[in-house]
Amino acid sequence: MAVTGAAGRIGSAVRAGLRDEVSRLVLIDRAGLTAQSPTEDVHKLDLRDAEAVTAALRGADAVVHLGGIPDEAPLPYLLDSNVQGTFSVLEGARRQGLRRVVLASSNHVTGFYPVLETVTPEMPTRPDSLYGVSKVAVEALGRLYADKFGLSVVCLRIGSFQDRVSEGRHLSTWLSPRDGLGFVRAALTACDVRFATAYAVSANTRRFWDTDSGADLGYVPMDNAESFASRIAVDGESAQSVLQGGAHTRAEYTLRHL
Ligand SMILES: NC(=O)c1ccc[n+]([C@@H]2O[C@H](COP(=O)([O-])OP(=O)(O)OC[C@H]3O[C@@H](n4cnc5c(N)ncnc54)[C@H](O)[C@@H]3O)[C@@H](O)[C@H]2O)c1
Repeated sequence: MAVTGAAGRIGSAVRAGLRDEVSRLVLIDRAGLTAQSPTEDVHKLDLRDAEAVTAALRGADAVVHLGGIPDEAPLPYLLDSNVQGTFSVLEGARRQGLRRVVLASSNHVTGFYPVLETVTPEMPTRPDSLYGVSKVAVEALGRLYADKFGLSVVCLRIGSFQDRVSEGRHLSTWLSPRDGLGFVRAALTACDVRFATAYAVSANTRRFWDTDSGADLGYVPMDNAESFASRIAVDGESAQSVLQGGAHTRAEYTLRHL
């Protein structure tokens, strides 16, 4: 098993969650990591380096690809880390014959839908940022490698991965660490998948994404952001509060990176 972006927030949680469940855990990041058990195999590399990624994936059976820039940034950086990086991982997986690739996509591929609409993975993308555009490309690369080369690819459109809910939007978008790990495990083990896309979000009462596809992966989320509702102020007036992507949908959010 391999995890890219293993030094990051989600990568650290996945690393801790999977460490005792697999015989060998390949950890990839451009940030330095130290092996914490004899089963961990650490690789410091840049995901843009397809040869290095391919070498690191040797012997792995599956990869959870989390490495990349997780927010708005100048387009060249996003193309480098997110798009080129995903290409490296898929190409490494193809060459090494991995049985499953799990790609970290984002809810921001559909951020311009209104909050009153329930969005399914089959609906057209409406990215709310350059970051969202880069994740549309990540999903498209996954689809290409599934259709053309027969890889088994699962794209997880991750919600807001947080220990606890800290803002109004999270009442809809929260992904608890427990559910995050649940979706990753399910994406790694679901049977007979050539290509699948699912929203990874907790069982929030106010969620605006269809989670049936998540259930198809065999995982039903357990946590609900509503338990935090009494402590959270909800912004019901601004334009951004009626669009699923929240602040990402504002022009200024992208203009500062142009
Ligand atoms: N955190 C969330 O709520 C959230 C929501 C939706 C999607 N995602 C996606 O999940 C993934 C992980 O998010 P996170 O919050 O853990 O982000 P993070 O920034 O904490 O971790 C990302 C890791 O990727 C590594 N990285 C970035 N570019 C790299 C490169 N070119 N080569 C090698 N390593 C590189 C970084 O060093 C970092 O350790 C990202 O792909 C992000 O877009 C996260």
